[in-house]
Amino acid sequence: MSDYRVGIWMYQNGGGDVIEKKIVNKLKERGIEAITDLNLRYATAEEGHIMCNGVAMEELDLFFSYNAGGQTQYQVYLYEALDQYIPIINNFKAFSITEDKFKTIHLLKRNGIPTTEYFLCHRDDTKHLRSIFKKWNSKMIYKPVDGWGGIGLALIENESSLDMLLPFLNQMDLRCFYVEKFVNYDKSDYRVDIVDGEFIACYGRKAPENDWKTNITSGGKVILREPNDEIVELAKKAAKITGLEIAGVDIIYDLDKERYIVLEVNGIPAFATPEQEKMGLNFNDKKIDAIVNLIEKKIKGKK
Ligand SMILES: Nc1ncnc2c1ncn2[C@@H]1O[C@H](COP(=O)(O)OP(=O)(O)O)[C@@H](O)[C@H]1O
Ligand SMILES: [Mg+2]
Repeated sequence: MSDYRVGIWMYQNGGGDVIEKKIVNKLKERGIEAITDLNLRYATAEEGHIMCNGVAMEELDLFFSYNAGGQTQYQVYLYEALDQYIPIINNFKAFSITEDKFKTIHLLKRNGIPTTEYFLCHRDDTKHLRSIFKKWNSKMIYKPVDGWGGIGLALIENESSLDMLLPFLNQMDLRCFYVEKFVNYDKSDYRVDIVDGEFIACYGRKAPENDWKTNITSGGKVILREPNDEIVELAKKAAKITGLEIAGVDIIYDLDKERYIVLEVNGIPAFATPEQEKMGLNFNDKKIDAIVNLIEKKIKGKK
């Protein structure tokens, strides 16, 4: 019998299953038993316990939740409830902030991190939206605050495209309008992986020809790229401010303001896929070790 038990829910596609096995084996070497496939979507709660696949979740020493694929409201609800009783990586507070673009950028800005300019208003408050467009005197991007993969972003190039977009957005049942000033950049970014405050890896993505989005799902290409000290420091600071134990910080260089800015912070940054590993992204083992160290530190420090 192991002294410690950890629950895991991890993505299985893109090589995630192989990564998970490595994590499970490394934990075992350290006397930590791991129980996988704990998908809170199928959990129930009664009599003081959240039960998932026959496991009483509160009795675990830690829960490692690492699956980006669309968590249901129910899952997130139980994530939050469980977070009261056992450590979860990532912790719920940081997870929920970074699931929201506005909350993340707002928090970073308040802590002195360079970001793009942004504006949030009630969905009926189109007067303010128009005035910010005039004030910025630049293209802007409408973003759903909880979007991912570059989906739902709309580039607003002039006032008439704003006029066209507004009725369309008003039809959707949105709480708010969130826009960012369009940053003049070279259409490439840096993804910096941080685990427990330490730099793990950096790579980049390049937008396809005639596109401004670097997301792989929008046709962006992964590129090998070294960070400089400024980029690493910026990523570490952003990770710390959000409170994420594991973070993927996206950084671009603003050509007009001549500085690096943080675009977003991802709470479930993917490991390199087998194809990306072949390309030369070789950080997976380093990241696995850092995560296993982090889990061990959290649970053994607790007892
Ligand atoms: N303010 C901006 N100015 C210029 N390009 C941007 C801006 N915000 C986002 N982008 C581009 O769009 C991509 C997707 O935006 P992002 O906010 O990261 O949303 P998602 O969560 O969907 O990835 C970014 O990777 C970047 O290439
Ligand atoms: Mg992004």
